[in-house]
Amino acid sequence: MSSIVRFRVSSCDEILALREQVLIEGTDRSDAAFDGDFDIETVHFGAFIEDENIACASCMRSDREGRPAWQLRGMATHAEHRDVGVGRQLLAFIEQHFRSSADMLWCNARTGAVSFYERSAWECTGDVFDIAGVGPHREMRKKLRLA
Ligand SMILES: CC(C)(COP(=O)(O)OP(=O)(O)OC[C@H]1O[C@@H](n2cnc3c(N)ncnc32)[C@H](O)[C@@H]1OP(=O)(O)O)[C@@H](O)C(=O)NCCC(=O)NCCS
Repeated sequence: MSSIVRFRVSSCDEILALREQVLIEGTDRSDAAFDGDFDIETVHFGAFIEDENIACASCMRSDREGRPAWQLRGMATHAEHRDVGVGRQLLAFIEQHFRSSADMLWCNARTGAVSFYERSAWECTGDVFDIAGVGPHREMRKKLRLA
């Protein structure tokens, strides 16, 4: 990729169109907004080429086992920018962002995306379960610091 890709914290507005295009269109969901999008501890992240949002994810505070944790949601890379490492770099940026404040990140991964997370050393922690209208998922987590 010749264009410069920048990874940064973003506003919800900056990433909502990509979330909708990649994750919502074609499903039973009608609204791209997530509960918690505007919670004080929620952080949105994006990869940008100039002003174009090419990858996104959002993290909502959701503690695990009484320890500080954030749930990663809405991970998506624009179809024209996949398989060149943008998603992996965005995930690494997010992990770095939370390294000093969270014990772990976790997510409900679509089973088709489990290998994507495993390549960044995330681990499956539960059995396959179904999210109505979206399909099969597995809970995964990435430890960030020792509890
Ligand atoms: C999953 C997704 C975010 C990956 O983004 P990406 O920018 O293409 O990922 P990268 O190019 O950084 O890939 C990193 C590694 O994961 C692999 N990978 C990427 N997408 C994958 C997938 N869907 N399944 C398995 N492996 C995948 C890549 O081949 C690469 O492997 P490598 O380490 O051998 O090089 C993107 O495919 C996407 O938006 N998919 C549709 C939405 C989705 O499923 N989101 C996840 C919801 S839980």
